[in-house]
Amino acid sequence: MRIILSDTIEAAVKTTVKMVLEQIESHPDSVIGLATGRTMEPVYAQWVTEAKAGSLSFKQSFFFMLDEYLGLSEGHSLSFKSYIERHFLIPLSLSPDQFAFPPVHHHPIDKAGDDYEKTLRHRGGIDLQLLGIGQNGHFGFNEPGSNKFCRTRIVQLAPETREANRGSLNLAEVPHEALSMGIETILESKTLLMLATGKSKANAIKYLFNHHDDPACPATYLKSHPHFTLVLDPEAASKISLKI
Ligand code: GLP
Repeated sequence: MRIILSDTIEAAVKTTVKMVLEQIESHPDSVIGLATGRTMEPVYAQWVTEAKAGSLSFKQSFFFMLDEYLGLSEGHSLSFKSYIERHFLIPLSLSPDQFAFPPVHHHPIDKAGDDYEKTLRHRGGIDLQLLGIGQNGHFGFNEPGSNKFCRTRIVQLAPETREANRGSLNLAEVPHEALSMGIETILESKTLLMLATGKSKANAIKYLFNHHDDPACPATYLKSHPHFTLVLDPEAASKISLKI
């Protein structure tokens, strides 16, 4: 695990975006895995700003979404598809054909995980996967208790995850289930890049530091990956001892 401790959130975001843009600059046909959440909003804002100011083209790149809620109507504001359209696809005028979304509206739904894995294999796998972390140590929607060898599948969301993700919605409106890339699936990515910012992530980061392959905190599984970079701001790093 490589750790980058930045002195501000803004610096952590810039470091994250720089790594993604370097990947695309060196390999324009990269397959990039995208994450959602509040942590990632400034990442997409910075990415869009830098992309508009520069000459790097994303036309040959392809993007996979990490996860999606089950049971929301198409275009629902909470859906990760609409999130990525708002923050990334539309501002950069990318084509929807450059994206793969977890097929949550497919029937039968129990085949959706395998179908998404097939799409992933067809594209040759992920070159760089962006990741956030939940307060309980989840990534994607791989909640505590997840097996290291799980693949893309329907998952039950932890109560604390539904609460943390509801934003301004009533909790009752937040689905109980999602389709998430599996842990083994994610670990097959060539590079993993996790960004954690803010005090609310400090406990999960502390746990990640002190444990290995522990189902109580799925992010600990990432430490076995040979190219896993963790970017932190001072608040997320506040319960571990690291120097800037
Ligand atoms: C959701 C997503 C995760 C993300 C997490 C953290 O649960 N499925 O991929 O890492 O939220 O979100 P936030 O950045 O808002 O704390």
